[in-house]
Amino acid sequence: MITIRQEEEKDYQQVFQLTEEAFREMEHSDHQEHFLVEKLRDSEAFIPELSLVAEDENGNIAGHILFTKLKIVNGSESFESLALAPVSVKPEFQNQGIGGQLIREGHDIAGKLGYQSVILIGHEKYYPKFGYEKTSNFGISFPFDIPEENGMAIELVPDGLKNRKGIVKYPKEFGID
Ligand SMILES: CC(C)(COP(=O)(O)OP(=O)(O)OC[C@H]1O[C@@H](n2cnc3c(N)ncnc32)[C@H](O)[C@@H]1OP(=O)(O)O)[C@@H](O)C(=O)NCCC(=O)NCCS
Repeated sequence: MITIRQEEEKDYQQVFQLTEEAFREMEHSDHQEHFLVEKLRDSEAFIPELSLVAEDENGNIAGHILFTKLKIVNGSESFESLALAPVSVKPEFQNQGIGGQLIREGHDIAGKLGYQSVILIGHEKYYPKFGYEKTSNFGISFPFDIPEENGMAIELVPDGLKNRKGIVKYPKEFGID
């Protein structure tokens, strides 16, 4: 039995460890994701309600997901969206649907908070299961080169990305622009 709930300060150490562990064997990783989570918690882009943990019945933290504020910039216009990054499931808990639960619950909360879309860079086979499609379908691009299929977005409400063309601007803590 897995419960998804908002992360609390007492979880920080377990989240740090599981994030490091989840990305340890990942090829396309700088292996700094656990430090990124720490930086983002102190950032203006942080939304406490959208830092979620998956907890098992014994109180072990099996996974974590973080959505932070992100901008889509088009000349002098700027639109608010969310970045999904990172999502981590402890290796021994992977492939049991926990990543999916974290993503879906995150979408639900984000929608209730009034956010209209989410943008991410990730595996093109995983995120479409949850409704993500290529950002290029929405006229949204990244300020650096990535394979087109790895930049993805979801509308949390109908037309949530209509007339929201532009270039993604990640929070500075990501260090990617
Ligand atoms: C990606 C991750 C969060 C998925 O969580 P999970 O709880 O294992 O995933 P789920 O149980 O919801 O989904 C499992 C499905 O996703 C697939 N999947 C899992 N990780 C994947 C990945 N990195 N790339 C492509 N597919 C992946 C599995 O093969 C499985 O497919 P199936 O349903 O067709 O059998 C988890 O595997 C993880 O922490 N990986 C390491 C860190 C990472 O890659 N994070 C995402 C990048 S930001």
